[in-house]
Formats: sequence, structure tokens, C-alpha cells
Amino acid sequence: MKATAIANANIALVKYWGKRNKELILPQNGSISMTCDEMTAKTTVEFSDKYKEHTVVINDEEFKKDEKDIHGHIDRICKLAGIKQHARVVSESNFPVAAGLASSASGFAALTVAATAAAGLKLSPKKLSILTRQGSGSACRSIFGGFVEWHRGKKQDGSDSYAESIVDKKYWPDFRMITTIVEVKKKPVSSRAGMSQTVETCPYYEGWLKTVDEDLKLIREGIKERNFEKVAQTAEFNCLKMHATMMTTKPSIIYWIPATMEIIHAIHKMREEGIPAYFTIDAGPNVKVLCLKKYEKEINKRLQKLDGVIKTMVCKPGNDAKIIDDHLF
Ligand code: PMV
Repeated sequence: MKATAIANANIALVKYWGKRNKELILPQNGSISMTCDEMTAKTTVEFSDKYKEHTVVINDEEFKKDEKDIHGHIDRICKLAGIKQHARVVSESNFPVAAGLASSASGFAALTVAATAAAGLKLSPKKLSILTRQGSGSACRSIFGGFVEWHRGKKQDGSDSYAESIVDKKYWPDFRMITTIVEVKKKPVSSRAGMSQTVETCPYYEGWLKTVDEDLKLIREGIKERNFEKVAQTAEFNCLKMHATMMTTKPSIIYWIPATMEIIHAIHKMREEGIPAYFTIDAGPNVKVLCLKKYEKEINKRLQKLDGVIKTMVCKPGNDAKIIDDHLF
């Protein structure tokens, strides 16, 4: 009753921001992401009578129950499998956790794949995605590699709100996402709390929702046509619209720090010089830079020279989440 899985993080090109059902984690809008090959979580789960409660260790630190409710997600899987034992979960992530770098996406995807396998469940990728979504919304996209769409769905039970591959990682191998780390601290407002506050208090939230379907259409088309400008321009605009809703909540949420702005201006400057670089930012200060392989080295070099940049990670379209043999304990 032990299994290990690895999953890549994913970065949204059209963002999920706001729930219509907090229990089942059903989104207000659909979203599209790229799964990032260099950002990985590896998780081993064992169910056994020898454990008296669930224990969760992430990057060598014991993880207590918190609003992310990893323990609750393990209970959900136990219930589905009809097992009474408790779990030991050990997870390693090769990038900072809870800093707006989609660590919960790779983490919950790896946990769900490993825990269901350890519990003896055999679920289709669609069912895995639905189950993962109930742990952390954006994580449902990390079940798949390449470019992925999470359908909003309409049903109240969430059975039509799942992620699906648009194209696999081989379709557009030249696409790059350069994750630029400017801060590794835990963010002050979690995405869970931030999106809930936005839905409740932002006067522009309706405006955000009205424009998302058009962004989804453009990005879906852009990916299929391998049209970089179409995808990257739409993604940057979508990110700015999302941050505009965050900034105009009560109290306002501003995830950006000076280094975030430094990168934004550097990207604008690159574009003026004819280098096609665009950005997207999640619920945190770190910036992900979109570009093509041809410009990767030049853009990465310029990013690394900026004062506020601690580290960059160059990602290509990544893999489906999968079971591996190499256990962590
Ligand atoms: O799934 P969560 O609770 O980690 O929220 C993710 C929110 C964003 O990263 C800002 C957008 C997204 O679609 O990934």
C-alpha cells in the first residue's frame, strides 16, 4: 500500500480566479495552462495500520493541518477507496512552496496520483483530475502534460469541471516559460483567501468574467496554430486583468514587490528592442516570462542581471503526472 508519483507544476495562461462552489472547488471561469517540466513535486504515500494519524512531510518539514487541508484530501481518497488506515506522506518539491509558484498544483497532483495508487484505486485521467481539483483547483491541470484546459463546467456536482489536454508536450517544444524568482517567502494572502475576497468585494469582478471566454478562445487557437504572439499577448493581458481585480478588493491585495515591477519594465524594454518576451504573474510576486526557444538564452541572461532576481528556471512543456518506482521512504 505504498506508491510514489511525480507531477510537474503548471502556470496558467488564462487564470482561474474565483470559485462558484468552495466545497467542491468549482471555478467561476475556465482556465488554460502550460505544464512546466522543470518544476516538479515527488510524493510517496503509504497507508498502514502502523500509522495512528495522517502525517505529511513536505521538503523535510512536517505540515500541520491548515486551510489547504492536505489531511482532508487524504481522507477524501480513503473514503473513496473504502480504507480505514492512516497515511504517511513525504513530498519533495524542487522549488519554493507557497510563493505563487504553483507548488500546490504539482503537490496536490502528485499526492492524488500516489495516494489513489497506494489505496488500490484505478482512476481514469479525467476522474483523477476531478479528484485532484477538490484538493486544489489549479492542481487538476497538472494531471496532464503540455498545454491543458480546465473546463468550468455547469453542473452543481462538479462532474463536468475537469482538465483535459489541448496538445501534448511534443506539439510545441519551442515554447518556454522562464520562472523568475524574486522572493521565496510564503505569500501574505493565500490564493484561496485572495480569490474569495475578490469575488465578494471587487466591483470589477463581473468585468473580468465577461472577458475570460474570449481569452480562452484566443489562447486555444493560438496554441493549435503555434502562434506565439497570440498566446503570449493574450496571456499577459489576462494576467493584468486578474491583478487589477486583486488590487481593487477591500482590503486591496497587491502581490507585487519592487522586483516584480523591475522585471515588467525590463520585458517592456526587450519588446521595444524587438525581443518577443511577455509575462504572467500568479498570486505572488514572482514573474514567469513567456518566450520561444530562439530567444531563451538572451532573455534569461538579461533577467539574471536584474537586481531583484534570485534565480530563474527555464521550463519547456512538461509531462503528465505519473507513478514511479523510486520511493522517498
Ligand atoms: O488552485 P489555487 O488555489 O492554487 O489557485 C491558483 C490561482 C492562480 O495561480 C492565480 C491562477 C491559476 O489558474 O493557476
